[in-house]
Amino acid sequence: MTRLVVSELAKHFGGNRVLDRVSFSMRHGSLALVGPNGAGKTTLLNALAGVVRPSAGRIEFDDLDIAGLSTWKIARLGIVKTNQVVRPLHSLTVDEHLRVFTRGNDPVRRARALRATNLEEFREQTADQLPFGALKRLELAEAIVTGARLLLLDEPIGGLSRLEAEGIVETLRTLRAQGQAMIIVEHRLREILPFVDDVVALDRGRIIYDGPPSGFYADAAVRDAYIGRTDAGG
Ligand SMILES: Nc1ncnc2c1ncn2[C@@H]1O[C@H](COP(=O)(O)OP(=O)(O)OP(=O)(O)O)[C@@H](O)[C@H]1O
Ligand SMILES: [Mg+2]
Repeated sequence: MTRLVVSELAKHFGGNRVLDRVSFSMRHGSLALVGPNGAGKTTLLNALAGVVRPSAGRIEFDDLDIAGLSTWKIARLGIVKTNQVVRPLHSLTVDEHLRVFTRGNDPVRRARALRATNLEEFREQTADQLPFGALKRLELAEAIVTGARLLLLDEPIGGLSRLEAEGIVETLRTLRAQGQAMIIVEHRLREILPFVDDVVALDRGRIIYDGPPSGFYADAAVRDAYIGRTDAGG
């Protein structure tokens, strides 16, 4: 079991306070990180992954404070993030993409990532030939193939049809059952909340909810943050 404890994490961009003393911990293997547009979700994932440098605070992963370490160091410690906007390398095939993300040549691990994301049929196709749904699955496969202990997934089903989203949710459910730890940022709550252990909601850089999915919709602060601002129903 991985240990992640975030304490008093802050991030300012100039005078803009995007993360404001954020504290939470992963109690179980899967956590949904939700909140209205601009709440700071991607910034929080970026801070955990070393993509942005926190202004203050601690991020304890196992027994190490990883706040401010580089993406490379953090990836080597076992935390890898997917991107909200997919940016594939168009002339590379699916298999070549996965080679980029595995150290050395590990065909077994690549095959497993392809199978987990239903990408086997696209293996030899270049990214510019892939439908959007397959590109989203490739983004996930690139994270899986690293063998990371903690996956940070930024809107893994964003922009997908209901059917395509179901496929990815099934993949996530299977990974979860295999013990894969993950933090999932999503707006499509109806599809994600049913299978996560915990929910953390951000609004304007602050945590307004931290608890089980069962208590989420009834929470007064959650209702207040969502009403009229985004589609909380997915
Ligand atoms: N590199 C940056 N420089 C300046 N401001 C930034 C930067 N990155 C994010 N922000 C600001 O931080 C705030 C939070 O952005 P963030 O992308 O973390 O929100 P989000 O919760 O992921 O939103 P969404 O649901 O729309 O993806 C926004 O006001 C955004 O404009
Ligand atoms: Mg975002």
